[in-house]
Parts: sequence; C-alpha cells; structure tokens
Amino acid sequence: MDSASRFQRPRHFAVWRACCTLAVLVASTELWSPIAASGDSGHLRGSGQAANSLLQPHGAARELASEQSAGCPTPMVDMEKDRYQCVVWRKVCVDQNVIVSFDPEVHPKTSMGTIPTLNVTEIMYNIPSKYGIGDRYRKGSALRFPALYVRPSNDMEEEPELQDPHFSSCTLPILMFAHYPYNAAETFRYIFEKLVTLQEAGFFDRRVTLVPGVPPGTRVPSYTKFWYGSLSDRDVVSLSELSARRPADTPSNATWEGRHIRCFERMMGCRIRYDRYGLRFYNAGQHVARHYMPQYLSQSAAFEERLWQTRQVRLPSDPSVFKLVFISRNADQSAVGRTILNEAELVQRCNEAAGADLPPAAWGVPYKKFFCFPHTFGESQLMDVWLMRRVDGVLGMHGAGLTNVLYMKPGGSAVEVRPYGFSGRESWANRYARFKMSSMAEEPWPVFWYGIDTFNASLSEPGMFEKDDKPHYSKFRVIKARDRHVRITWPSLRHQLLNMAAVARTHDRYMSLRLSGSFYITDDVQPAEAPGLDPHVNKARQRNFTDPDAERQLAVQIPISQQNLDLAATPDRLAT
Ligand SMILES: *[C@@H]1O[C@H](CO)[C@@H](O)[C@H](O)[C@H]1NC(C)=O
Ligand SMILES: *[C@@H]1O[C@H](CO)[C@@H](O)[C@H](O)[C@H]1NC(C)=O
Ligand SMILES: *[C@@H]1O[C@H](CO)[C@@H](O)[C@H](O)[C@H]1NC(C)=O
Ligand SMILES: *[C@@H]1O[C@H](CO)[C@@H](O)[C@H](O)[C@H]1NC(C)=O
Repeated sequence: MDSASRFQRPRHFAVWRACCTLAVLVASTELWSPIAASGDSGHLRGSGQAANSLLQPHGAARELASEQSAGCPTPMVDMEKDRYQCVVWRKVCVDQNVIVSFDPEVHPKTSMGTIPTLNVTEIMYNIPSKYGIGDRYRKGSALRFPALYVRPSNDMEEEPELQDPHFSSCTLPILMFAHYPYNAAETFRYIFEKLVTLQEAGFFDRRVTLVPGVPPGTRVPSYTKFWYGSLSDRDVVSLSELSARRPADTPSNATWEGRHIRCFERMMGCRIRYDRYGLRFYNAGQHVARHYMPQYLSQSAAFEERLWQTRQVRLPSDPSVFKLVFISRNADQSAVGRTILNEAELVQRCNEAAGADLPPAAWGVPYKKFFCFPHTFGESQLMDVWLMRRVDGVLGMHGAGLTNVLYMKPGGSAVEVRPYGFSGRESWANRYARFKMSSMAEEPWPVFWYGIDTFNASLSEPGMFEKDDKPHYSKFRVIKARDRHVRITWPSLRHQLLNMAAVARTHDRYMSLRLSGSFYITDDVQPAEAPGLDPHVNKARQRNFTDPDAERQLAVQIPISQQNLDLAATPDRLAT
C-alpha cells in the first residue's frame, strides 16, 4: 500500500476536504484510483515502507491537521517499532463500540480492499466482582471477549456525526487488548510493562489516547487508568466511553480537541501477547513513580496526615530504622479472605523487638530498630507510590498488592505470605510477585523477594468462598486455598526481618541468601523449596541452609551497597 501517494494531489484533496461526505467520496471514485487496494492495508510494516512507518498525516493531510485545530499536537506512532502486528485504521468513526470505516482504500464502494480487523475473541477475562478476581466463580473465569465489530460506513448512518464526518488528525486512539484486564497483577505483567517498554523503544508517544480493551460497557479499572496515565497526556478511556452517543461539545480530556469527538484520521488496535518481550517490571514501576513524583510530593503533608488519622502512624525518617509496611485488607476484602489474622500482634512485636531480634552492631548495617505498620493499599494509588518510596520493605499475602514493591527505591524488599495449600510447591504462586522481582531482563535485581509459605494447617482459616462452598463456586482447590486467612509465626517474620536488615539493599547479599534457600521459608523456618528448584538462579549453586544465623553471617561479609542506602536515606525531590 502507498498511503502517501493519495495525498500527493492537492487539488483533489481540496475537493475532498471541502465536502468530505460519503456521498461525495462515492461520487468521485476516480479521485482515489489508481490507488491499489491491499489486502493487508492495516499493517504498516516492513523496512521497505520507511516513509509510511511514521504514522502521521502525510502531505496535504498535515495541512488539514494544522488548519483544523491550530496548535494541537500530532500524536506519533512508529510502525517500525511495532512488535504485535497492530492494526491501523484510517478515516474511522467509533459509534457505540463499533468501528466504522470511511477509508476509500478499503471501502466496498471504492475498493476491493479489506477493512482490517483485530481478532480479540480468544482474549480472556475474569468477571469483575466486588470480591476481587472473578475466577472464584466456576463459570466466571476465562470468559472470552466478544468480537470487535468493524464495518464500512453506509448511506443509512443513524448518527449525524457519521453522516458528515470530520476526521481528527490531533487525536489518535489506540485500542490495547490483553488477557485478564480485571486482574491488577496480570494487567501489570501482561500489558502495562510491555507498553512502557514499547514507548521507550519509540513505538508511540505521549500524545496518543490509550483505550484499554475491556468488555463493552464495563469500566476501565482505576489501576489501569493510573498506570496507563503515566504513558499518555490524554485521559485513558474505554471504547464504550469514546464511542458513546453524546453531544460533540461534551468536554473530554481523552481527545486533543477537548471535547467528545468520535471520528479520527488514524486509529489503531493492538493485541499485546504474553511473550518474552520487555519483562522489565521494575523499570515499569519506576516509570510510574517518576511520572507521578510531582503530584505525590505536592501532597506529602496530606498523606502524612492521613497516615496519622487512619493508623496513628508517623513514619520515622531516621535511616537507622528499618521500615516495613504490612498490606492490610479493609473489611470488605477481609470478608473474602487473605487476612493476616494476627497483624496487630505482629506489628507490636516488630516494633518492640529487642536484643537478639535486632541486627547486631557487628553486622555493620545501618539498622538499629524495626518499624512495622499497616496500610490499606489501593484507596489512593498516588499515596501508595509516595509510601513505597519511603519504606524499606513491604509484607503481604499473595496478591496484586505486592506489585507496589516495584515503586520502591533500589534495594527494596517484599515478603510474600502464602496460606496453607497455596505454597509455591503446590501452586502457581511463584509466577506473580516472585517472577516480577526475579526477571532475567533486570539482573542484578533491583528489588528482592522473600517468601513465607504456611505448611502448618492450623495456622490458616478458610475464606468466604471455601466456607460457603456453593455449587457455582470454583472447584479448584488452590483457588480456595489462595483466599485462606493466615496467622504468621513470629519466628518466620523475625527471620525475614533479620534477613532484610542483613541484606541492607545489597543485591549480592540477597543472592547469597537466595542461593542458600534461606530467603524462602515455611512457617517454622525450614526451607520451602528444595535446592535446584529455583528457576531464576544457577541451579548448580543452590544449597540447603541449616542455620539461618550462619547464612546471615555469610551475607554480611559481602560489601554493602552504600549507593542504595544513600538513595533510600535521601528524600525524593524533583530534578531541577
Ligand atoms: C480468532 O482467533 C481464534 C484463536 O486464534 C481463532 O480460533 C478464530 O478463528 C479467529 N477468528 C477470526 C474471525 O479470525
Ligand atoms: C480536564 O482536565 C482539566 C484539568 O485537569 C479538568 O479541570 C477538567 O475537569 C477535565 N475535564 C474532564 C471532562 O475530565
Ligand atoms: C501448628 O500451629 C499450631 C498453632 O500455632 C501449634 O500449636 C502447633 O504446634 C504447630 N504445629 C507444628 C507441627 O509446628
Ligand atoms: C534439603 O533439606 C531438606 C529438609 O530440610 C531435605 O529433605 C532435602 O533432602 C535436602 N536436600 C538436599 C539436596 O540437601
């Protein structure tokens, strides 16, 4: 396809511009010949198409862009950087989730071409539920997306806007589909991280409008809006909202026109696959933290006040205090499961730790004391980022909350706790937080994963879906086990507190604990994983630890990362 050539005849273009109704398009088909139809016109790819690969209006269309809305920026997409065979539509309107093409190159009235489609019908989602992930329902998991409907415009358009479309050159929406849009941890890992990597590679700039794929009529989750918001200067919007029948003067920050327009010179659709591209999870978390830094710093005082009002917590700024935040669940979340039943007792024990429960001076680490406190994540994402920049570690039950560790300064730690029946030995638990913090693409790892798996059955209690056990609830044993409440033993918490203090934000020290197996324990401080089973480190070097104190002694012989400790002790500030 040669999309540049169609704009190389200004006279014809002027005709089109003056009266770009479908009727005129149809009446003047000779305008568009001799443009060859292309069956693959939706894919602007390949090195031979360098001129086309920058997806911006060409030639006269550029004039149109500046004339139409003076001063509006032009979104930029470089199709050479596309990894996912994204589809490009030209001259389309969106109307009630339908994509309506006016592109003469692929319109049945002017061409033998085929309108590009995006096959989304094998994409899965778990039914959104106030109880969290819908995979707890037998028929609520792995639901399939309906097909995305793309059709040519016709003479029976109901909407006046589509009877006389004016295509925006300023706004370029990109539909982004991937599996499990209502699982926060999956959203981060299956798609958001890849979008950060793609943007850094130059695929799309901040001027595009990001349209996350969700089933028609359902909301884009707040975490998706927050994360995608770090990649675009326009509001993140669902296709339902973008394509809604509303007055065109309705204000909107999703478009550069500032109002609800629905017809675009260019629009794209991508199906992001789960492959080996990217996998730079910490990088993506840091991207979010950097982007929101001006905002969270400006609200610092309000966040401090809120910590005090909700939890009577004042965060010590003293770097000799090791700060560990517990991912605490609100009443609704706790009703479902995954509560740390003895949270208050553990927080108190941590804060009263003395003697042999504290890092010995001989270790030469900066920490003299521990400070533990609970925080409910997800209520203000901005506050969560702010908080994570100020703590040394986070502890929580298996779940998306642990994704917050990726906002931390380098050398931060996460302790993941799993209920009885849901350890990494017998389930997929290791695929989430541990996987994200152990990416081969980010060695040496900037943040460290520690685990406590519950093996003593009497330390866990069933969650709501296990207790009620209705016929339409999931039959999978591990799905029920995942939601069990847990009592964490003090010896296991003490062990990980001392481990994190000994490591002192130093990767090589962490690796020493990792190779010995003492980074990942059971409730009674035994190895949770046999040597050779850690897929993320050299199998030949994995050992069985017997004495946890001896392992920490070994770790503290390794030189400390003063750089990471200095960064942690220095408050975030904006670059000047
Ligand atoms: C969409 O993709 C699925 C799975 O790859 C395939 O089975 C189906 O036939 C495709 N549908 C269309 C319309 O191409
Ligand atoms: C658009 O953004 C401005 C500035 O942040 C805000 O005041 C306005 O309410 C937003 N409008 C809409 C429709 O979201
Ligand atoms: C399991 O936990 C219970 C409750 O804390 C405790 O009484 C019991 O000794 C534990 N059993 C083992 C084998 O550690
Ligand atoms: C490691 O220790 C566990 C018990 O703690 C034992 O069952 C296992 O055989 C040991 N494995 C090796 C390779 O030493």
